[in-house]
Amino acid sequence: MSARPVIAIDGPAASGKGTIARRVAAALGFAHLDTGTLYRVVGLAVLRKGGDPADAKLATSAVASLDLSLLEDPALRAHATSVAASKVAAITAVRDALLAFQRDFAAHPPGGQGAVLDGRDIGTVICPDATVKLFVTASPEVRARRRFLELSTNGTVMTEAEVLADIQARDARDSGRAVAPLKKAADAHLLDTSHLDIEAATAQALYIVRAALRT
Ligand code: CDP
Repeated sequence: MSARPVIAIDGPAASGKGTIARRVAAALGFAHLDTGTLYRVVGLAVLRKGGDPADAKLATSAVASLDLSLLEDPALRAHATSVAASKVAAITAVRDALLAFQRDFAAHPPGGQGAVLDGRDIGTVICPDATVKLFVTASPEVRARRRFLELSTNGTVMTEAEVLADIQARDARDSGRAVAPLKKAADAHLLDTSHLDIEAATAQALYIVRAALRT
């Protein structure tokens, strides 16, 4: 077991894992790292250069000169950036370059109390010895509805059917890739949020995490 508690939260797009991770971290006073943001920064950097995010050379050079000013860029959450992120995320050299940063955050969390990391491969690859692992999921239709509502508020014009098709394509890319595919770790707790609102989902996650931290 790690010296400081590490909570690994994985799951597909719009499952609620990001919000759950943020709230669990706040409730426990732990530091939180949204690892998807790292892939988004790399994807956005390639797009801004006019390149193809599936181009390993371009993506590898973007990760080598990581432009952290993009963390504040509103385009980070845009649809095109999600697609670009999942393309750069399939490139082994990109994942390798981001591995040490993520492990270091888990081992030395800012604030020193503990760490919550959310992503796709935290429980399987980044922190296989995490104190507690959650795999947060929901049906593709429920996730598409949530992402559609979220995108509508930031001005993105897409139909719900288009959002669903995108989520399915991204699920396939994330789960089907050779390197660090999205999958539930054998020892992760499954949290299906299809019929839970975010309050209920967070409450269940906190219940599981607190029980694990006591043992
Ligand atoms: O918020 P959403 O779940 O839509 O996306 P995200 O968590 O910001 O991740 C964007 C993309 O980055 C995902 O589709 C994955 O391809 C990739 N990713 C990954 O491969 N590994 C992680 N630990 C986190 C994200």
